[in-house]
Amino acid sequence: MSLLIKNGRVITATDDYFADVFVDGGTVKQIGKDLAVKAETVLDATGKLVIPGGIDPHTHMDMPFGGTFSSDDFDTGTVAAAFGGTTTIIDYAIQTRGKSALEGLDAWHKKAEGKAAIDYAFHMILTDMPEERISEMRRLADDGVTSYKMFMAYPGVLYADDGTLYRAFRQAGADGSRVCLHAENGIVIDEIIKGAVQDKKLAPIWHARTRPTRMEAESVHRAIAIAELAGASLYIVHLSSADGLEQIKLGRMRGVDVHAETCPQYLFLDESAYLSEGNGGFEGAKWVMSPPLREKGNQDALWQGLRLHHVHSVATDHCPFFFNGTWKPGDPSPERPGKELGRAGFNKIPNGAPGVENRMALMYQGGVVEGRLSLNRFVEVTSTFAAKIFGLFPRKGTIAVGSDADIVVFDPNRTETISVNNPRTHRMRVDYSAFEGFTVKGYPDTVISRGRIVVDKGSQQAKGGGQFIRRARAGELLR
Ligand code: URP
Ligand code: ZN
Ligand code: ZN
Repeated sequence: MSLLIKNGRVITATDDYFADVFVDGGTVKQIGKDLAVKAETVLDATGKLVIPGGIDPHTHMDMPFGGTFSSDDFDTGTVAAAFGGTTTIIDYAIQTRGKSALEGLDAWHKKAEGKAAIDYAFHMILTDMPEERISEMRRLADDGVTSYKMFMAYPGVLYADDGTLYRAFRQAGADGSRVCLHAENGIVIDEIIKGAVQDKKLAPIWHARTRPTRMEAESVHRAIAIAELAGASLYIVHLSSADGLEQIKLGRMRGVDVHAETCPQYLFLDESAYLSEGNGGFEGAKWVMSPPLREKGNQDALWQGLRLHHVHSVATDHCPFFFNGTWKPGDPSPERPGKELGRAGFNKIPNGAPGVENRMALMYQGGVVEGRLSLNRFVEVTSTFAAKIFGLFPRKGTIAVGSDADIVVFDPNRTETISVNNPRTHRMRVDYSAFEGFTVKGYPDTVISRGRIVVDKGSQQAKGGGQFIRRARAGELLR
């Protein structure tokens, strides 16, 4: 299908100009003023921004976690992502402890294949990596999975000890793969949690009080030191605090190859959410995620980090769980259990929150409208940087001749109030919004994935069609 986007203002991470964009066969074929080409579909983008489709490099669709599964799968989650202006996700596949990572990858391919509305790639969560299976890491990279996630949190579940980190970091460094890291000292945190539970401190606020920012900073510091020795390229996911950010700056000043990602929840929300009234004191469970929401002062530090290039990317860590699940123990699973699993104590609340649909609009509002980020920087942190660091560039993350036509026609004047009750802002399969009541100016009007219009003016135009993207290794370009 051919498509001509006329008269828009084209913004990339580096450019800003008025032009027409001609798309054919899924890629951008021409960019220029008043293009004299015939196209099957013509979109008038007068007064609109024409930006690269968003790339969300941190999602958890259909993820087994906290005694249940995240409530969006690759169908509902990617449709929601598209409505919000995201055209590629990098989801986290999981290697089960003691089993092959390649089996884990197969399982995630099965979850996504034929369902996704937009393109997707995988990172691989490594839970263990004994010497005899370490060659699997190179096989993953050969199969286009060129990054891993490892956890310093969640002992007994996803946690990897320092020896495992070092072994995997060395292999990743040798293979040209990158390591994403959940940096929280789970061993110490578990001790703090035990004390809180003994003292009957069970309300959602204790989720935040038992996970201090120092334990994020300590893990960021330790991971950087291990990566420095091992020669690995490190990417700290969901950075939440000024304390943690200080360690990123120190590591980078020392010349370590470390980058940082934050998420809208840490830029827009704070720990007072855990004290929200309602639902018998359980309302705050909606925001139980790890790391937790922090004291408000951390928001400014993270925004400044984005502005000054100490923080490089904004992902969502989309991991939704129903709030009012109808599931009861023993039910043959009519619906996935959700936050109610933790009614008796914060430490049993499934960790995670929804957001894949809200990221682009929130970042445009908080960044561009409120004057914290330039338009170019907005594009960079929501798309281009992730494409570059995770081996998707230049197919993804920019608008250029030869690139995939993953394009968003973004209306800078459209105002929406984000709400679970507003179908224009909430397609995610979850019964609440983490950003309920936030008003944003600027919203995606038309969302195009490899030349297919997936969403136009609030209505879904295509189902499925998303493809698995094999990513390049560090330093290589994706053809
Ligand atoms: O609470 C969170 N973040 N849940 C998803 C898993 C993770 O740690 O990223
Ligand atoms: Zn994590
Ligand atoms: Zn995550």
